[in-house]
Parts: sequence; C-alpha cells; structure tokens
Amino acid sequence: MTHVDYEKMKIIAARKALEYVKDGYVLGIGSGSTVKYFIEFLGDALKKGLLKDIIGIPSSIDSRILMSKYGIPITDLYENPEIDLTVDGADSILSDKGVIIKGLGGAFTREKIINYAAKKRIIIVDERKLNREVPVPIEVLPFSLGYVIKTLDKMGGKPILRESSGKVGPCISDNGNIILDAYFDIDQITPTLEIELNKIPGVLENGVFVMRCEVIVGLSSNEIKILRI
Ligand code: 5RP
Repeated sequence: MTHVDYEKMKIIAARKALEYVKDGYVLGIGSGSTVKYFIEFLGDALKKGLLKDIIGIPSSIDSRILMSKYGIPITDLYENPEIDLTVDGADSILSDKGVIIKGLGGAFTREKIINYAAKKRIIIVDERKLNREVPVPIEVLPFSLGYVIKTLDKMGGKPILRESSGKVGPCISDNGNIILDAYFDIDQITPTLEIELNKIPGVLENGVFVMRCEVIVGLSSNEIKILRI
C-alpha cells in the first residue's frame, strides 16, 4: 500500500490559511493538530515581520499554550468581541448538507463561539475529513448527565461517555464539563440537529456547526481544494 501523508495535507492547508490573515486582525484560533501548524506558521510570519499587529483568541488551553510558545499575542472575547477571522480545523465536512462536525478534540464549545462571533471563517482539513462518518460531540453539565443520556437515547443518538486517556473516568472539557459522543445515523445529521440538541436542558453545546465558511482541503496530490459553505 502506498504511504498516505496526512501531515503534509494538513501543512498545505494551514499554510494556505495564512494568506487570509491581514495586519491588525483579531483572530479566532481553533484547536487540533491542523491548527497547530497554522499557529506555528503565524508565529513565524510575525517573527519575520511579514505580518504585524495580530492578536488572537485561543479556543482551548492547548492552543493558548501553543500561541504563547510561538509568540502570538493573546486576548479574549471581552477585550475584543469582534473577531475579523477565525481559523479552525474540523472532523467532518458534510458540504451537501451545509454542516461541519467538530469536537473530536473536545474544544467545540469555545470553537463554536469564536467561529460564530467571527466576520469570516476558514476551516483547514486534510482530504480524509470530507464526508467522514463521525459521532456528534455534546458538552454536558455533569448535573444533567443521566437525563441527557436518556434523551439522546430516545432521539436515536446512541450516546457514549467520552473517556479520558490521561486519567481514569470521563474526559473533562476545558470548561469543566462532560463530553458525550452521539452516534446518530448519517440521515439524522442535518442543520436542525444543532438546535434540537441545544434544546435539551443541561446540554451546553454540540459539535454540529452551521455557518458560512471557506474550507481549505489539503489533498494527497499536494494541491488545495477550496469549498464554500
Ligand atoms: C477540536 C476540533 C478540531 O478542530 C478537530 O478535532 C480537528 O482536529 P485535527 O486537526 O487534529 O484533526 O474540533 O475540538
């Protein structure tokens, strides 16, 4: 079997995203292994003076640490409620449905805020993410866990408690909550699912994103495809 280099695809997508950044921008910074490359390239561009007066709002503790490491000035939504551009990764692009699924990295609640608050959004992915079948992550207030599980079961969502890999028990989000992964049938994943899930008391946010954006897809041919959602 030929070797497929997904890191290379992530890198070309992340590099392309840098072209959308302009001097003086307030940037929303997503999370994950593809955004990690973007943070590195952005830091490098600032260091070389190719970009200036950039300030970023990280969507996770992980991205915050990386931004510090690469010398990217950090702000928050209180200081800068107007985001010029958010750059983020994704887990599945269902472009026919106008839906993006995010959150396998567990940072989707803050990611949704920085995406929806932005004037423009760029999503960077490798080609594996196109029409990929993934569960829908759901962030749940611990107090309401049993009720949310029961409700999702009734909706046919087949929820599974996300386990932590670094400790025993559940994976706890940066916001101190529990994450469920709901295995809906692909037909059930529609733009309205986002609203239906958020109506359940105790659900803080879910990984169904419905928003206008440009998706930069790094391809195995070393080329880039741009989808407009
Ligand atoms: C984290 C996310 C990430 O954007 C998503 O998981 C993509 O990550 P990667 O680039 O590592 O595949 O939604 O909550």
